[in-house]
Amino acid sequence: MKWRIVCCMALATALSTTAVYADGGALFRQKCGSCHQKDGQAPPVNPADKAAVVWQKFFDRNRHATDISGVLTADELQNVIEYLKQFAADSDRPETAAIPK
Ligand code: HEC
Repeated sequence: MKWRIVCCMALATALSTTAVYADGGALFRQKCGSCHQKDGQAPPVNPADKAAVVWQKFFDRNRHATDISGVLTADELQNVIEYLKQFAADSDRPETAAIPK
C-alpha cells in the first residue's frame, strides 16, 4: 500500500509546479546562462558571487544591466532568486560555476 502514498505525493508535487522549469537551478543555467557564459555577451555569474540579501536587493531594485523580463517570467525569476539565495556566498553551500563554461 505504501507505493500509493508515494505515488500521490509525486503527483501532487508535479501538479503544484506549473512552470516548465520547477528547478531554479535549471532555469538559472538555461536562462541566465544564455547570456552569462564564457565568450557570451555577459561574464559567467555564480550564486556564490553575492550574499543572499544582496541578490534579493539586486532584483528588488531592478539593478540588472538589461531588461530580462522577455527572457524570464516573474515566476521564473522568483525561482532563480530562491536558487541564488540558497547557494549564495553566505549560505551553507555556496555554489560556483553553475553555468557550463
Ligand atoms: C539578455 C542577456 C542577459 C540575460 C538573460 C541575463 N543577463 Fe545578467 N547581464 C547581462 C549583461 C549584458 C550584463 C552587463 C555585463 C557587464 O557589465 O559587463 C549583465 C549583468 C549582470 C550582473 C552584474 C554583474 C556584476 O558583477 O555585478 C548580474 C549579477 C547578472 N547579470 C545576473 C543575471 C542573472 C541572475 C540572470 C538570470 C535571472 C541574468 N543576469 C540574465 C545580460 C543578461
